[in-house]
Amino acid sequence: AVTAATLTAGTFAGTAAIAACDDGEMVIKFSHVTNTDKHPKGIAANLLMERVNEEMNGTACMEVYPNSTLYNDDQVLEAMLQGDVQLAAPSLSKFETFTKVYRIFDLPFMFKNMDAVEAFQKSETGEEMKDAMQRRGLQGLAFWHNGLKQFSANKPLEMPGDAAGLKFRVQPSDVLVAQMEALEASPQPMAFSEVYGALQTGVVDGQENTWSNIYGQKFFEVQDGITETNHGLLDYMVVASVDWLDSLDEGVRDQFMTILDEVTEERNAAIAEVDAENRQAVLDAGGTIRELTPEQRQAWVDAMKPVWEQFEGDVGAENIAAAQEINA
Ligand code: LMR
Repeated sequence: AVTAATLTAGTFAGTAAIAACDDGEMVIKFSHVTNTDKHPKGIAANLLMERVNEEMNGTACMEVYPNSTLYNDDQVLEAMLQGDVQLAAPSLSKFETFTKVYRIFDLPFMFKNMDAVEAFQKSETGEEMKDAMQRRGLQGLAFWHNGLKQFSANKPLEMPGDAAGLKFRVQPSDVLVAQMEALEASPQPMAFSEVYGALQTGVVDGQENTWSNIYGQKFFEVQDGITETNHGLLDYMVVASVDWLDSLDEGVRDQFMTILDEVTEERNAAIAEVDAENRQAVLDAGGTIRELTPEQRQAWVDAMKPVWEQFEGDVGAENIAAAQEINA
């Protein structure tokens, strides 16, 4: 394979990676939807590509397709089951048709910070969640962090009542729909690549996302401001099909998994830094960030937390208890 440096060179930035695999190398296509620069998923996917292409040269060759250039998240898991793509890392909100157990990650105010998320994902409960989709042909391989979500809209959001009556883009997740309904807002599920245009043209009034997505997609340019609510989580599951994993020689699979585990450790450990860098980049680019007083924040908690009860059956009361124990 050519080196990762060639693949990511400026000429092709922002477009699909160019096929660069040698004859006889197994091609591993990794399709995702975010930008690559400064973005937790973009950085992790490119590091994985670099290491696979260097350390598994002659055996395997990875191509990363960022920015929804190959598939968006509604399509990628089906494409994976067809064998058209080997790796993806959709957010945990995007697996609704495959499992309901990831709904715990969408429940508002479930985790107090990213350390709590990390501890929960590394617990036995979290580890077992990687296997939740095996019957449906998918295997979770690693949790990748992005971070906590913030709200933005075309008007200032200070109290939960400010969101009432507004249309908010959400990821396609029943929990997120219920969360917006709890705010008396109107949830509009929509693909990530369409959000900027929808905000710009007024198809939706607001959205929720992490600092890296708000910066990477430039949502702040077409919003009044961002309110720092840290109300929910946006993390990823790196996923492959069971069939593809089974087709690999054991040694090849082990080498790949070792690289993936090392990349996961390294990039997840850097998440606070990447998140802060994106928050600062929003400010530097002229975006407005509103911080909440403790009283204001409590009002958002009171408005949204009742959603937990609606999903306790899917998520498991014991899993909620385990997450809360970690928060304590
Ligand atoms: C979204 O759709 O807002 C996110 O899941 C995009 C992403 O991959 O971070």
